[in-house]
This record gives sequence, structure tokens and C-alpha cells, in this order.
Amino acid sequence: MTTATLNTLKKSPPRLPGGLPYLGHIFEFQRNPVGLLQRGRDQFGEVFSFLLAGSWMTVFTGPKANEAYFRAPDDQLSAKEAYQFTVPIFGKGIAYDTTPEIMSEQLGFVFPALREERLQRYAQLMATEAEAYFDTWGQEGEVDLLEAMNELTIFIASRCLIGQEFRQNVSTEFPRLYKDLEGGINLLAFFQPYLPLPSFQRRDKARVRMVELISQIIAQRRSRGIEGEDFLQTLMTAHYKDGTALSDDNITGLLLTLLFAGQHTSAVLATWTGILLLQHPQYLTPILTEQQEYLGNGQEMSLNVLRQLVALERSIKEAERLRPPLIMLMRKVLRDLEYGEYCISAGSLAMVAPAVSHRIPEIFPNPERYDPDRFSVGREEDRKATYALLGFGGGRHRCIGQTFAYQQVKVIWSVLLRRFDLKLVHQEYQPDYSTFVVGPRQPSLVSYRRKPQTTSF
Ligand code: HEM
Repeated sequence: MTTATLNTLKKSPPRLPGGLPYLGHIFEFQRNPVGLLQRGRDQFGEVFSFLLAGSWMTVFTGPKANEAYFRAPDDQLSAKEAYQFTVPIFGKGIAYDTTPEIMSEQLGFVFPALREERLQRYAQLMATEAEAYFDTWGQEGEVDLLEAMNELTIFIASRCLIGQEFRQNVSTEFPRLYKDLEGGINLLAFFQPYLPLPSFQRRDKARVRMVELISQIIAQRRSRGIEGEDFLQTLMTAHYKDGTALSDDNITGLLLTLLFAGQHTSAVLATWTGILLLQHPQYLTPILTEQQEYLGNGQEMSLNVLRQLVALERSIKEAERLRPPLIMLMRKVLRDLEYGEYCISAGSLAMVAPAVSHRIPEIFPNPERYDPDRFSVGREEDRKATYALLGFGGGRHRCIGQTFAYQQVKVIWSVLLRRFDLKLVHQEYQPDYSTFVVGPRQPSLVSYRRKPQTTSF
């Protein structure tokens, strides 16, 4: 029997009952995607499908199914086809608007910007930005934590990615442009990114202006022979395999790709890290002790110091598990995919769902419980299987910025916790599923009081 005949003998995955004709479960999916996905897992196990605006979406959960998903080649499960909504933002010929081979060459240009000596430099830059930002807070008050983390991570990202010249202008035009670009990311854009809507027109105008701004910096650097210590510099000196240098539009596109992949996600992870810690203050004690030990005598922020902050790292990992900023990762099925007794048909969509996979009790016992120590030496629950913890994806499209992101969140909380006593204002901080990157619903207020001396506890 041929493989094609075998496939036709295989079943479609079980389908979630209910939903509207054609639209399927779109309204519940918009309102509470994690509830819907968890229900499917509880009812059918590691693979099931549901109808979403005319397309069948197959959901993979659990290490074995996740592995099948992440190991499928790009010409079978395509990220490019699923993420077309990013093309108007990242640009033509960039990332998901090119072949997987060229995309991987483009992302490869970034690796020198993530080497140890660069990360060392970023550690200091991140600390300087965080200190300057928190200097603007008063003696005591209330802040929206997500808003604050968003502002600060835009400063950090623009400084480390695009450089000092750009960073100086961030407070003026950039936040507006960035907001307009972000306005192009929603469920509608996932299906129809080019509709003539005002929000999509604003997105397109903002991108044109962004290319102008970054091109000016590139031109100035080239004419004055200035060399930066940022991602921009790395891209300015990069070449494709055939020897061609990157055009200004290519450079801007890649910077926007990194900015979009890394800024909001880092802000959200930083916010959940703080909220969960403040909800479970007993876990602050070891964090403050290691802060005292490694930074308490005015030591400089460095990679070496950051590596010692293991209790803080565990709390970030637990935030990644319980509140992954990306709750689902998508692919388009280009060729039939077999999994166990099932065949997932070409033309449909497929996803993995970190928010559900992270709550499987066989991997993470007592999964609803906040317990950063589940990652301590000897327990290391995330190592029970390769595709257990998925906050940064897996396989060939795994995040390239994880080290940078963890470093950033560690620096931010090191500065905050050394300077302030913090308390939550609300009883509950629930996830806001209306945005692509899932932070807490706003306002997400915390109150702060400055400590008498910045380095004492
Ligand atoms: C907390 C912060 C971050 C989170 C939670 C996160 C999460 C992820 C996830 C889940 C993926 C896989 C997407 C998929 O398979 O569909 C991914 C890919 C990616 N991330 Fe991140 N990321 C973060 C920060 C960053 C940063 C700081 C950068 C850049 C400096 C970055 C750059 C990228 C890129 C370029 C990809 C695409 C890789 C590919 O498709 O080959 N990310 N990220």
C-alpha cells in the first residue's frame, strides 16, 4: 500500500463539538483561548481539532505531540504561511516573506550580536536604562506594571538593537510609530492582513517612516565612520552568502523583526514574573539574599553576576511556565501530516499551545501551583522531556533571543527589587486574551516605596 493510500485510511483528529457553522469556535477562542484549548485536551488528549473561521485548526499538546509538530519540516508545517500578518510590518523579502533558507540566513546575521562579549555590554546598558527609568519614579506611588515594563523594554530594545542615536529620539516620534505598527497585529490580520482598514493604513505609513528614520542613522554612521555596539552595527557589516550587503530596507526589516519578536514578549514576561512573585512573597527571600550577595556592595552588572542569580532565574522560568507570553504558536499544513492514528490534512492549520502543555501534571506535578523550586537542581521538571517547556518554542523556529530576554528580565528585577518595596494593588491579575502577546489585564497596578538606601535590604 502506498503512503497516500495509508493516509486516506487514517482518521481526522477528533473534533471539538459545538460552535457555529463556518465560524466555528471563533468567539470562544477570542474570549478565552486557553479555556477552549484546555477543554479540548481534557476531552480528547494530545491531538484534537476545532473549526476557526472556516479553517480547521489542529492542536498539539504534550511532549510527544509537540515533538512531532516541531520536527516537521517547513514544507509540511509552514511558519511562513501562518505568519503572513507580519509581512506588512517586517517588510517584503524579510523573515516570513522569503524562503525558509533565506530567513534562516537572515536570522544568522544576528548571531554575532548575541555573542558573549556583546551580551556583557548589553548587561551594562540594560542596567543603565533600568536605573535611569526607575530614577523617574517618586518616593512612593502606584504604577501600571505592564505599562512601565513596556516603556522600559522599548528603551532597552532600542538602545541595544538600534543604538544610542535612535534611543535619544525614542521619547518623541518612535512610540507613536511603534504603536501604529502594533495595531496591525490582531486576529483579523491573521486572516486578512491587507484589508483597507484605517489601522492597517496607519501600520503601513508607520513602517515607511521607520525605514526613513533608521536609514538616516545608517547614512550618518557610514559618513562619519561611527561604529556602534548594537544589532544595527552587526547588520550593517553582514553579507548574504553571494556577497551582497544588506540594503537599508533589509536592515530595517530585520531590526523590526527583532523588536517585534522581543520587546512586548519581554515586557510581558517581566510583568508576570513580578506579579507572581509579589503574590507569593515567600519566594522573594532567596532572591533578595542573592541580590545582597552579588550586587549588594555596588558591584557592576555583568554576565557573571547575572549567572549567579539562580533564585531569580527560577522565578522567571516559573512565570514562563504559568504565563507564557505566547500562548500558541501556529503553522499552516502544506502536506498531510500523520500523527499516531491520525492524518492532519494539507490546507488546515496547526498549533502548539504552551499555556496548555505547561499544565500537564505528569510533567509539572500540581501544575496550577506557583513553585519556582520545581526548576531547582534535583527536580528540574522541565528536563523530563525535550518539548516540555515551550515558552520560547522548539525545533528549527526556536527563539534566538531567549538569553537576551532572560538577561533583560533579570536586570530589570534586580534593579527594581534593590531599590523598592513593592505591593500588589488588585486582588487578582487575570490574563488579557485580547492581545497577541498575553499580559495581565490593565490596569495592572502595583504600589512602590523607595528603600532608604539603594543597595541595602
Ligand atoms: C520573553 C521574551 C520572548 C519570548 C517569550 C519569545 C518567544 C518566542 C517563541 C515562542 C518563538 C517561536 C515561534 C514559533 O515557533 O512560531 C520565538 C521565535 C523567535 N524569537 Fe523570540 N521570544 C522572546 C524574546 C525574543 C528576543 C529578545 C528576540 C530577539 C532579540 C527574539 C527573536 C525571535 C526570532 C527572530 C524568532 C523566530 C525564529 C525562527 O522562526 O526561526 N525573541 N520567540
